[in-house]
Amino acid sequence: MDKIKIIGGQPLNGRISISGAKNAALPLMTAGILTEGTLRLEHVPHLTDVRTLGTLLGSLGIDVGYDERPLNGDLGAGDVWTLNGANINSQFAPYDLVSKMRASFWVLGPLLARFGQAKVSLPGGCAIGARPVDLYIKGLQAMGAEIEIDEGYVIAKAPKGGLVGATVRSKMVSVGVTHTLMMAATLANGETVLENSASEPEVKDLADCLIKMGARIEGAGTSTIRIQGVDSLMGATHRVLPDRIEAGSFAMAAAMTGGELTLCGVKHETIESALSVLRACGVHSEVNEDEILIRRNEERLLGTNVVTQVYPGFPTDLQAQFMSLMTTAKGDSDITETIFENRFMHVQELARFGADISLHGDKAIVHGVERLKGAPVMASDLRASAALIIAGLAAEGETTISRVYHLDRGFDRIEEKLSRCGALITREKE
Ligand code: UD1
Repeated sequence: MDKIKIIGGQPLNGRISISGAKNAALPLMTAGILTEGTLRLEHVPHLTDVRTLGTLLGSLGIDVGYDERPLNGDLGAGDVWTLNGANINSQFAPYDLVSKMRASFWVLGPLLARFGQAKVSLPGGCAIGARPVDLYIKGLQAMGAEIEIDEGYVIAKAPKGGLVGATVRSKMVSVGVTHTLMMAATLANGETVLENSASEPEVKDLADCLIKMGARIEGAGTSTIRIQGVDSLMGATHRVLPDRIEAGSFAMAAAMTGGELTLCGVKHETIESALSVLRACGVHSEVNEDEILIRRNEERLLGTNVVTQVYPGFPTDLQAQFMSLMTTAKGDSDITETIFENRFMHVQELARFGADISLHGDKAIVHGVERLKGAPVMASDLRASAALIIAGLAAEGETTISRVYHLDRGFDRIEEKLSRCGALITREKE
């Protein structure tokens, strides 16, 4: 398995082009199930999660086309995928594909909406605590689906005549449930109202694409979404929105190493919460249309508290990276995780760099130390792997990160992007 090797201590200087958002590209690809037409997606990040989903969609009978952009060009340009759902002949999503990545489970909504039936394996994904699917099931049942769980599979059937619009109030905000029910509702009979829905920018991006496909959706990007079902959807072309988590991760990397980094092709309003936390720590940022400049002077950053929240709050997907940043800040920082119950696997890996972090239930207290020292570490989940890179970039000496397949699931060409800005980072094939 590949390893990443980093020699720490180099500041990051230069420009990084931000890729399309993984968390938007995945639900957008599943929307290809909803139409007989061709969905063309541009600015799709080059990631194994995307390819895993492409394989799953292909196994359903979707005609999947893929145009990979050359490596030496703009590293954030992304790939183009075309999905044609005219010949879908299976509504079965097997364990070996769904278990690799939780978002594969999201084919459930569109399959049920268009074909009236689906058999989808219960999901896998990152080891960040129990991730139940009760809210998906309750939501689809409210729309008339009959659902049974048997031998690790969710087996769902729509009533004769298709799903029926309903008002669904989720007991907690879930991104995946919102994607799934919104897609299911586009082809349901009548009106669906999703209350307490996720307002993440990726939900809005999916809704924008569905609207281009002929869906009638209002309120995406707020906590109440109204969908009027239509008879069918058509093909469309859509550009995936920029990845706010990737942008936030690079912002934290520059804040950690020092230097001056410009993030290009970003939607700054989608990472305002992270930028404001960085400002509180003493990081300088300047927004100029679709660019953000991040600069840090020689002084130590200030320990700053963070609580993860649903959008527009501080994202859980940046929690691990922020914890890395705080390991060398002046004073203590309290980092509270409210979205996932066990998302602190990176704490013990950060300790290998000499970080001083204590855990108290859903809160980690980081006691800033003067400096980190390079170490062999292991990536425990997708976002935590970026946290280890950030620590390695600033640590004295050499760091090796194993289990980098987690990184390849979610960060598009991260070593190339960082090395163009002065980082000493290489991939070692084994
Ligand atoms: C998505 C993102 C992930 C991000 C997360 C929260 C993608 C591919 N993944 O994951 O990167 O960290 O949103 O912003 O976009 N829950 C239930 N029952 C359910 C469904 C969810 O209790 O049926 C709980 C989860 O366990 C979790 C919380 O709801 O505690 C939020 O999770 P959710 O928003 O569903 O995360 P995902 O959509 O899986």
